[in-house]
Amino acid sequence: MKTTQEAKDRIEDLRRQLNYYNQQYYQNHTSEISDFEFDKMMEELIQLEEANPQLLAADSPSQRIGGDITKEFATVTHKFPMLSLANTYSEEEIREFDARVKKGLNNEAVEYFCELKFDGVALSLTYEEGKLIQGATRGDGTRGDDITANVKTITTIPLQVSGNRLPKLFEVRGEAFMPLNSFIRINKEREANDEALLANPRNAASGTLKMQDSKVVAQRRLNCYLYSFLSNEDTVSTHAEAISKLEAWGFNVSPTYRLCHTIEEVLAYINEWEEKRKELPLDTDGIVIKVNSLGQQNRLGSTAKSPRWAIAYKYKAEAAATTLLDIEYNVGRTGAVTPVANLAPVQLAGTTVKRASVHNANFIAELDLRVGDTVYVEKGGEIIPKITGVELNKRPENSQPLVYPTACPVCSTPLVRQEGEAAHYCPNETGCPPQIKAKLEHFIQRRAMNIDGLGERTIALLYEQELIKNVADLYSLTYDQIYNLEGFKELSSQNAINSIEASKATPFERVLFALGIRYVGRTVAEKLAYHFTSIENLKKATFEELITVPEIGDRIAQSLLSYFGNPLHQDLIDRLQTAGLQFSLTEEQQQASQGGALNDLSFVVSGVFEHYSRDSIKEEIKRFGGRVVSALSAKVNYLLAGENMGPAKKQKAEKLGINVISEADFRNMIGN
Ligand code: IVH
Repeated sequence: MKTTQEAKDRIEDLRRQLNYYNQQYYQNHTSEISDFEFDKMMEELIQLEEANPQLLAADSPSQRIGGDITKEFATVTHKFPMLSLANTYSEEEIREFDARVKKGLNNEAVEYFCELKFDGVALSLTYEEGKLIQGATRGDGTRGDDITANVKTITTIPLQVSGNRLPKLFEVRGEAFMPLNSFIRINKEREANDEALLANPRNAASGTLKMQDSKVVAQRRLNCYLYSFLSNEDTVSTHAEAISKLEAWGFNVSPTYRLCHTIEEVLAYINEWEEKRKELPLDTDGIVIKVNSLGQQNRLGSTAKSPRWAIAYKYKAEAAATTLLDIEYNVGRTGAVTPVANLAPVQLAGTTVKRASVHNANFIAELDLRVGDTVYVEKGGEIIPKITGVELNKRPENSQPLVYPTACPVCSTPLVRQEGEAAHYCPNETGCPPQIKAKLEHFIQRRAMNIDGLGERTIALLYEQELIKNVADLYSLTYDQIYNLEGFKELSSQNAINSIEASKATPFERVLFALGIRYVGRTVAEKLAYHFTSIENLKKATFEELITVPEIGDRIAQSLLSYFGNPLHQDLIDRLQTAGLQFSLTEEQQQASQGGALNDLSFVVSGVFEHYSRDSIKEEIKRFGGRVVSALSAKVNYLLAGENMGPAKKQKAEKLGINVISEADFRNMIGN
């Protein structure tokens, strides 16, 4: 046991180090230590802070790791509406903007503040007495979602600011984004996991901010650039001053801005950044030009949609024209058919493009794509370029509309399309070779059953020689069968057999992932395994029960019901169970995950407590199997009220019929 002084020193040391590594990651895009070492230090910090609640600080890096689950985001009304910007695309339009501004200001001199237009998700952050009290999305501009728990995981957003002449209440706005290196890393992982790829960094950022589990948000390592400061107190008179205040208070401002004194300087800025912006750690699609003086901004005012004192200039997306050679249809593990365009090779943004995504049948029909067409391809934020248009003037004379296949291009089974889904599927799960092979490959991969004595090539051989037709067949393979395969010797055959045998000990959550149920990636499999604890419980779960699990929505629930409703899958699971695979959590896993007493109960925590810090009481709730949610709604079971809780909260809870309990009641519930 450490003395208080020792604990204090170690806590400070850990905080300093963790802040340093965080900064390294965000500012310099490097990390000197592994994720594992980082997590270990974080774990130690959390333990020390729990043991010494008096040393907990609002700005400790431990406050960034998430943990709160938000089932439904509360709606918040923006104090100042979040407007959008009018777009321009040419020098001429920029000059027209300048003329309009000057006319509106009786030809006074005007300075412009230029910034890059970051391609992410607009965020509004509210600070009271220097403390971050709310983070919200733009929503429809008037009302957005309260995503405070998720916003707090973004380590470059200060949780607490101090500084001179800090207004009591102020709002800061900016753009949350997924850095390009994180985007690439996550997609690599998803590809290895056979999970759907994130389309582009912007969608990835907005999807991440709307996740229910803030722990997952923390792992995604979003970042945020701030570019607006709003307050009712008159502390600054220009936007440039506001920006330097934000910098001084520790907000993450992109250093790419420039104060311009003439429209010529603005145009020079635009030209300068056209190429340079590609070196930035995030996508940008243009620049934003703002009148610098706040007095002038006020006089110019806004229309219902956008301010008259600012405008966006959008760079042209890089596009190239080429010929569509044909469309190829690939069949994936779940039977989904994805069309891919083969193109005559063309140079685009520094790479040779030969293929482009065409998404699905609707997309092909909308563009009326035809083989032989001259098409435009663009590289947006996406990794795979996309076809954006067809040059109809160049269409060959006797070209024919594309007919989407009605049968599987490999096994000829008629394709099906579920209502509301854009994709076509080949339903021949047990007879369509690419599906069968992809299912087997998915099953043996490292993150699933980790059968490393077999590989893609061996799977293909085993399948072609009709030794395996599904994943359960792997467990009846013999040494001789493998030894007789091309390229196998004694040692490699024994290895293969050993790794198949060893896979029987793979924990339940990975077995569940390995089954390859549509939409059940690693994270979802883990959530399901820990919630239901065994395949028996999961099989019995109704749609309603499934969607109460955090992160499980209608689509996943439907997919699970249809998977378990299929007798072929029942049979497969029976065979795997007989072979000895793990289909329930071990005692240890269960004990670790749930103390039990608060299973499935959700709590909102408010006020100050005698025996716990705010965070340690939340930890306690989770330790006993309960969930902590940030906002009151009819679905919440208890409002755990400490001292100094506001009366409005209590009234709201009573109105919603939520039980309001004291710290003593809570201690009784957990048998303390
Ligand atoms: S200022 C009223 N500055 O663009 C204007 N916006 O179309 C307030 N954006 O919703 C926004 N970079 O999400 C501003 N440097 C920047 C920006 C920026 C990106 C986004 C923002 C806004 C949208 C407006």
